[in-house]
Amino acid sequence: MKEEQFTPKPYKSSVENGSFTWSSPSNIALVKYWGKKKNQIPENPSISFTLNNCKTTTTLSFSKKHSHADFSFEVFLDGEKKDDFKPKIETFFKRVETYLPFLRDYHFKVETSNTFPHSSGIASSASGMSALALCLMSLEKELSEDVSEAYFIQKASFLARLGSGSACRSLEGDLVVWGKHEEIQGSSDLFGVKYPFEVHQNFKNYHDTILLVDKGEKQVSSTVGHNLMHGHPFAQERFKQAHKNLSDIITILKDGDLDGFVALVESEALTLHAMMMTSIPYFILMKPNTLEIINKIWSYRQTTHSKVCFTLDAGANVHVLYPENETESVMEFINSELVEFCQKGEYINDKIGFGAKLINKE
Ligand code: DP6
Repeated sequence: MKEEQFTPKPYKSSVENGSFTWSSPSNIALVKYWGKKKNQIPENPSISFTLNNCKTTTTLSFSKKHSHADFSFEVFLDGEKKDDFKPKIETFFKRVETYLPFLRDYHFKVETSNTFPHSSGIASSASGMSALALCLMSLEKELSEDVSEAYFIQKASFLARLGSGSACRSLEGDLVVWGKHEEIQGSSDLFGVKYPFEVHQNFKNYHDTILLVDKGEKQVSSTVGHNLMHGHPFAQERFKQAHKNLSDIITILKDGDLDGFVALVESEALTLHAMMMTSIPYFILMKPNTLEIINKIWSYRQTTHSKVCFTLDAGANVHVLYPENETESVMEFINSELVEFCQKGEYINDKIGFGAKLINKE
């Protein structure tokens, strides 16, 4: 598969104006993407659960303009103009222009809102970039005559990746792989694909309660973070380990091996943070309360034999993952023992979801 397959043939139709609304979820990586090459190509393959409740809804309105000179767009978050979002979208437009040659022909209004608070420390780039990519693909579909469903979703994932790597894993559910892996046929560095193998009932409807330990702006942007893997002394070993973990998780998911899942997922989370702690410059993105929570989870597991576990993003918040049949007991545990470590006692209940949805078309 090559990038060129996403360069469209000359469009056959013309569209003056209209709008599309898509909602797209966030996702949580089990095997992490950390380190990238040029053009948003990952250094290693990753796999994630698609989430259900944490999502972004974006309406893209477009009207044809006369000059083809510049990109022309405005951005609104929850109805308020957000000029500070513009540079990121401008960069995205530049990256995808070859694949969406209509971008300079329209004035765009991007209106976006998240179900989770902007200041929750939860990255909105995966849900936001995938929602925007889908809106743009809806427009391309109007302009072209031959856009199949499979091409639509694959190109939307390809475009989303150019906005933010992990965004390419948010379009479908419930498990998505991004990055070439030798045992996963069809896997690609260019876009996410639905996990193609059998998944045991134990992993259906898995839950993720996100404990908001630190709701501030990210201390290290993901771009800076990924760059720390260039020349990192342990980078090559880490990339190999991710390939192996992805091989191992195939068996774990098939067999319903909850203990294997816990061990692999927690190790991935701690390895991601270990990479940050051992890079130059170095960072500690966990907070004391992150460690308090991890220790509480470990002792709860030891005393109850629960299969609850944690994973982390590049920040201090903790994703608490557990099977559906433990919902009641784990919620009780969270409310009695973990809430005190969350900022203002806040957390978000989420679970596995099935991807993005077209909400409206005008
Ligand atoms: C730690 O997708 O945010 O969440 O491609 O620079 O936008 P960019 O990075 P981003 O990185 C996410 C890193 C991670 C792990 C993961 O989601 O796989």
